Amino acid sequence: MQTTDGYETIYKEFIRETNLCADLDTLEALRLKYFGKKGVFNDLAEELKNAEPENKRDIGQKINTLKAQITSLFASKQTEISENVYKTRIDNCPVFDEELLINKNPLGSYHPITLVQRTCEEIFRGMGFTIEDYSEITDDFNCFEALNIPPFHPARDMQDTYYLSNGQVLKTHTSAAQNTIMKKYGAPLRAVFPGRCFRNEAIDACHENTFFQMEGIMIDKDISVSNLIYFMKTMLSEVFGHEVKVRLRPGFFPFVEPGFELDINCQICGGKGCPSCKNSGWLELCPCGMIHPKVLEYGGIDIEEYSGFAFGLGLTRLAMMKYGVKDIRTFNGGNIKALSQFTNK
Ligand code: DAH
Repeated sequence: MQTTDGYETIYKEFIRETNLCADLDTLEALRLKYFGKKGVFNDLAEELKNAEPENKRDIGQKINTLKAQITSLFASKQTEISENVYKTRIDNCPVFDEELLINKNPLGSYHPITLVQRTCEEIFRGMGFTIEDYSEITDDFNCFEALNIPPFHPARDMQDTYYLSNGQVLKTHTSAAQNTIMKKYGAPLRAVFPGRCFRNEAIDACHENTFFQMEGIMIDKDISVSNLIYFMKTMLSEVFGHEVKVRLRPGFFPFVEPGFELDINCQICGGKGCPSCKNSGWLELCPCGMIHPKVLEYGGIDIEEYSGFAFGLGLTRLAMMKYGVKDIRTFNGGNIKALSQFTNK
């Protein structure tokens, strides 16, 4: 049986041995020496078992005190060693190597459609337009009826979309936000609203089921087609970085009257004629028109006082033209190599 001094000796020995431990492995070996199956505390437990009954209480208490002392010292030594290991690791770290970091974590880049969208937003902001956000899920009223496309109207055929089980739809065009924005702001009003649109399309190099548009509306007193032409020409010249020619052809859209297809002179051949513009010298870019009075009325606008124009700029198409992307599927393809090569210049 241990004397009181005996327990103290054990503790002192443990302190001595702990001081010799410089890493976690040696400390673990020490732990096993004391707490392992054949360790010191096992021997002490044996002693306790064999002790006279009247001594058991006293011995048990002494063993417990010793155990508490050793456990606590062990824990603080463990923390001390772990912190030292960490500190040594930091001290030995190579000097910050910027190049290594850049190669390992390449910086991200904006998606080409984001770049085009931001350019357009900036340009329109400079012309007094606000930039509006609108949901991708909408309803039949906003997507069609408020735009003068009643149920069974043939114009719906071109915009077959995805219907949710609750009757809502994925918006087929950014025009779907017109009604909400008119009601929100009333007249006069200048706003553009970019957004992702969805259609049930057979996908090929020119068609996607998911694409981006930017809608714009301007409502004020005495707005005419000349205002429309002015804004479109200014915007497109800024996007392309040089003056572009535009022309209007008649086009039918139920929510505008008159409606137009706006073409720009081919940016590849400069208007002389090439395969990209099918030798016409013109590229179709942006349907537009004077907002139909019914649509204004749906939006709560007084048609005696106000008129306006609207346009639906194909952002995806614009990005294809600006960056010379031949296949629309590139944009949703997720090939980082293909998508990270564009800048806003
Ligand atoms: N929303 C039409 C579409 O996606 C495009 C459009 C045409 C928008 C004429 C307009 C407009 O604002 O005036 O097919």
